[in-house]
Amino acid sequence: MGRLVIVSNRVPASGRVPDAGGLAVGLSEALRGSTLWFGWSGETGGSAAAEAQVTTAGTVTYATVDLTTEEYNRFYVGFSNGSLWPLFHFRIGLMEFRREYLEGYLAVNRKFAMALAPLLQPDDVVWVHDYHFMPFADELRRLGVRNRVGFFLHTPFVPASVFAALPRGEHLLEAMCAYDVIGFQTEPDRLGFLDCLHQLLGIEIGDGRTIFRDGRTISVLTNPIGIDPDSFAQDARRTARSQEARRLRESLVGRALILGVERLDYSKGLTHRFEGFRRLLSRFPDHRLKVSYLQIAARSRQDVNQYRALRRELDQLAGNINGRFAEFDWVPLRYMTRSLSRSTLAGFHRIARVGLVTPLRDGMNLVAKEYVAAQDPADPGVLVLSRFAGAARELDAALMVNPFDPDEIAESLHLALSMPAEERIARHAALLERVRSVTAQTWCQRMLDALQESPNIAADQP
Ligand code: G6P
Repeated sequence: MGRLVIVSNRVPASGRVPDAGGLAVGLSEALRGSTLWFGWSGETGGSAAAEAQVTTAGTVTYATVDLTTEEYNRFYVGFSNGSLWPLFHFRIGLMEFRREYLEGYLAVNRKFAMALAPLLQPDDVVWVHDYHFMPFADELRRLGVRNRVGFFLHTPFVPASVFAALPRGEHLLEAMCAYDVIGFQTEPDRLGFLDCLHQLLGIEIGDGRTIFRDGRTISVLTNPIGIDPDSFAQDARRTARSQEARRLRESLVGRALILGVERLDYSKGLTHRFEGFRRLLSRFPDHRLKVSYLQIAARSRQDVNQYRALRRELDQLAGNINGRFAEFDWVPLRYMTRSLSRSTLAGFHRIARVGLVTPLRDGMNLVAKEYVAAQDPADPGVLVLSRFAGAARELDAALMVNPFDPDEIAESLHLALSMPAEERIARHAALLERVRSVTAQTWCQRMLDALQESPNIAADQP
């Protein structure tokens, strides 16, 4: 096999070891071989030219392209995060569609394809990530690129009854048929995509694993993403002794810690979760003074209207809860919108008695897996998990909640905080087994194997 070429909107800054993002972690194994990582430079106000800046660090070459302010507003803010993100999280009421956003999205896909095409070698395998680049392979094909090209969607995918709300959505579906392999996090996501192909494009689905379109074969697979549990556990053991973790522990003065960690995003169910915590304190008053809930909600996509509105709402809710329940020596909810490093968080997970993960919808949610990996198996905490996170399909030994029901969140928190050690240990052992069986490495390998097996290359040869 030739080089692996990764295409993603976010590219870890060239010249330094990839940190934080789930994608960099998921791909860490693959990055040991010769790799080209291509995507957005993170610069706005850059040039309109389809030209990549290239730098190399170890085995990885980074190639990045700037966006102009208009491209950023249309491609990233308007279409990717203002239309596709709410659509794929079943929130069509939040979609802010405009034709110029879609046009900007297609134009940036074309510009990026034009920048990547000259960098490709004939036996490179290209792996494209996420909703920013649904038509990317189609644009590459128009430029004559015949390499194997795969796509993995990190978010959920919706059935045709929801997808149909997206104007010109058929065009995007059609463009996706230029990939050789398309991967989804869960079975419902894969089935949603097949439903769209069938209902909106009239494609015969057959066995649903392989689709035939215009003389090409597309394999469609479910391939959940994982973490590297052993290295995360090692990190957690180490950083549980860090200065930050010590400060956190001391500040708790023996109280049980409930921990939530995510980007500040409406898909994460934070307003319902805050309400659930409020009900814990009002319906189960024995927990007052005995728990501390730390919610890290890292600011995200603040140029997108819906995100700014959510931030205002959460600021207010957090103030209300503390105003109502705080004592002069106890703040029930600690809410911060700054992000912390992944390794600091690993230590915090290990300290937390409850990991609270209640998205209204989530492609996978790696935080749930990280929480499990970070625990001390001899005295583990309890994971409270939304049944609408992709991870719920594997982590069924968690305390499962419907995130739309704040009372159920409160009841589950009460159960988690009162759970005897024996049950905590048994549930954790079952969860850890699942986290160990589907890892970053198995995810990566399955996708690369599927690309390797694609029959299109032979068929494409003149
Ligand atoms: C989600 C998406 C990623 C995205 C990340 C951060 O996990 O699936 O593609 O990179 O959020 O969002 P941002 O808009 O800051 O890249």
